[in-house]
This record gives sequence, structure tokens and C-alpha cells, in this order.
Amino acid sequence: MTVKKVRKAVFPVAGLGTRFLPATKAVAKELLPVVDRPLIQYAVDEALEAGIETMIFVTGRGKGAIEDHFDMAFELETTQKQRGKDMSALEGTRLKPGNAIFVRQQEPLGLGHAIWCARDIVGDEPFAILLPDEFMHGTPGAGCMKQMVDAYNQVGGNLVCALEVPMEQTPSYGVIDPGARNGALTEVKGLVEKPAAGTAPSNLILPGRYILQPEVMQILETQEAGAGGEIQLTDAMASMIGQQPFHGVTFDGQRFDCGSKAGYIEANLALALERDDIGAHIREFARKLVA
Ligand code: G1P
Repeated sequence: MTVKKVRKAVFPVAGLGTRFLPATKAVAKELLPVVDRPLIQYAVDEALEAGIETMIFVTGRGKGAIEDHFDMAFELETTQKQRGKDMSALEGTRLKPGNAIFVRQQEPLGLGHAIWCARDIVGDEPFAILLPDEFMHGTPGAGCMKQMVDAYNQVGGNLVCALEVPMEQTPSYGVIDPGARNGALTEVKGLVEKPAAGTAPSNLILPGRYILQPEVMQILETQEAGAGGEIQLTDAMASMIGQQPFHGVTFDGQRFDCGSKAGYIEANLALALERDDIGAHIREFARKLVA
């Protein structure tokens, strides 16, 4: 099967981040660090590892620092170089010239609307979407998007990451109505955004990683507001089921919902414990703290 390569990724980063106020009053929530890398950097690294070249950020007012993060930091780089300092910490923060594109979503009309704002840059090719506050932590070389691109190269069509959560959490997410399962792949028969408690078709949710065909942009063009009065990506994807292949991919790795305070702290703790420089210290500290 020949499929068009996934070359572009869209990162919706226009959200206000109200759950992290006051931290996010002046700082974009996507720039909050997990240990010492901002959340958005992990998502971009994940896309780069999957062979994706062009990063499209859908930003909003007050998110200019994200643009600066992926630019050259002239004063910093020059000063540190003159001092003979190691600059490896900045690896991956400067994307290839022309490969970081920024568009603005002018009004918070929903995730579907944010993605639609990137339609002219995405053009007529399959593309990935990564929600940066969902932190997907895989083993090096086998991140979530890499696993999805590998699956996409086999089955083509549309793919969403699929994650099992306790049933009572389903009202907070997009939920899959699953069909046949084959290894890590599950057929998607239906999708529903934020189902009312007790009505979800399964406990398989969408944790914010997608590979979609460009036709979704035409659907989004006229997509009406859904759950929460917002234009929902989930609703647009649901209309493609039956027209094009649609699968869920189970991620082999750890997921942290960094849109929630608990998930964010968990991610920091888990990543800190893995580090060569501070892991042993944090382990000892945590052990004493809970004793
Ligand atoms: C969005 C999507 C939802 C998905 C979730 C993952 O919801 O609409 O389908 O499950 O992200 O975090 P939001 O968290 O923006 O309300």
C-alpha cells in the first residue's frame, strides 16, 4: 500500500490555560517546563522523531514567546559561545529555516476551528495533530507519533491515538466507539465528544494525537458548534468514518495529562526520576517526604 508521507504537523497552542492561573497569566501554558524542557518542545521533538518536517503552530494573542522559543536566541547563543559554554541544551529548539509556521486563531471557537485555521498551509496532504498539553512519553526512537506514523504506513486513512481510562473520566474527552481490534490497531466505528456521564460508547479516549486526511478541512469549513458550544474536531472526524479507513492506535508508553495540575506534577516527577543528573537525588527526597 502506498500512502502519502506525513510531512506536516499542526500544534494548536491558542488556548488560554486558565487551569494554571496565575502561572499562565503572562506565560503560555505550552511553555511550562517538565523538568527543563517546555511542553511544546516535547511535542515538537515527538513530531521530528516521526519524520515530520513542517511544524504549524496555531497561536493566539500573548503567545509570541512560543515563536521566540523556536528561533535563534542571538544574545544567549553568542554570549555562551564566547564563554566556551556547552549549548547542547538548545538542541531541537531551532527548527530548519522555514519549517516553523505560525498562524493565529483570532477567536476561541474550538479545537476544530483552530485546526481549520491551518488549512491553507496543510494543503492537500495528510497531516498530524499534536495537542501539547497531552504529554506522551515513549522510549527514545519510539514516541507516540512515530508509532502512529508506522501504523499509518500500513493502513493509511485516518488514525487517532486511543487510550483506556477509567469510565468515569470519559465525559472530559473525545471517546471512540470501537470495532474489531488487531494488535495495537482498533477499528473506529464512531466518535463522540465529551459524552454525558454513563453514555460513553467505551472507555477508549482520544489523548490528542491524530493523523488525518486533508478532507477533514472541508468538513470543518461548515462544521457546526458541538459540545460546549465549540467547533469540535471530533465531530468533523466522525463524519469521515465510513468514507475513509479510520483506526485507533494504542500507544506503547506513558501518557500524562499536563492540562491538569496532578498530571503535570506526575510528569515532572516521572521525568525527574529518569534523569542521570537529578534522578537519584529526587528519589531520595521523595522517599523521605512520604515516609
Ligand atoms: C480536546 C479534544 C478531545 C480530546 C482532548 C484530549 O478536548 O476535543 O476530544 O480527548 O482534547 O486532551 P479539550 O481538552 O480541549 O477540552
